[in-house]
Amino acid sequence: MKRIKLPAHIAVIMDGNGRWARRRFRPRAYGHRMGVQNMFKICGHAFNLGVRIVTVFALSAENLSRPKEEVDELFELFRSYFSKKRERMYELNVKICVLGDISVLPADIQDSIGEIERATAHLTSGLLNICVNYGARQELVRAVNKAVALGRVVDENSLESMVYTAGLPDPDLIIRTGGEIRLSNFLLYQAAYSELYFSGKMWPEFSKRDLEKAIENYSARDRRYGNVREE
Ligand code: FPP
Repeated sequence: MKRIKLPAHIAVIMDGNGRWARRRFRPRAYGHRMGVQNMFKICGHAFNLGVRIVTVFALSAENLSRPKEEVDELFELFRSYFSKKRERMYELNVKICVLGDISVLPADIQDSIGEIERATAHLTSGLLNICVNYGARQELVRAVNKAVALGRVVDENSLESMVYTAGLPDPDLIIRTGGEIRLSNFLLYQAAYSELYFSGKMWPEFSKRDLEKAIENYSARDRRYGNVREE
């Protein structure tokens, strides 16, 4: 990879699993299974490149309205990787946090998530946030209610401390695969000054080189945060 300015925090909307599978005449669940494998590959590569934080959109609040069969299959994937195949998570050697309202998940999955979070809490070389039953509007409503319940003034400081990503730098780069050009209720508060990168590749086929290209593209951008550039 060329000499580049590395984003500290990358967020990823892993879209296109279903279409990728259907184009291969396979069930959508197969696309999700390959999607998880790619998640490990791409996150591992990002951490190896020196990215400190990766936040992935694994299940949106809206995804729960999909046919029960597909939701159950996604739950089964969580069950598998948060429990039986948790070694795969540990191999990343980073702290793992699950963001979102996980109270809707079966109790055993919630327990496994708690265990993984505890077991990796001491790891400081990187952080993987996995958003599950996450929605940005829901996150903001929750944050405002928390601030009000604590008697805090609702301002940027209190909101920043009440969102799921409290204390973390905002994503520098948000990547969405699958060809759609929108944020779909992902990190709307945190994305205020994020650079956005859209790839036409479906998530299971998004490669390490594609990640590097996204980072190179980010690196060439001029981030002004509403200010003017020094000439
Ligand atoms: C979007 O593809 C992807 C999802 C709804 C789920 C992504 C989830 C994973 C990759 C699994 C994460 C698992 C763990 C264990 C963290 P889509 O189904 O919307 O694709 P489409 O747009 O082609 O229909």
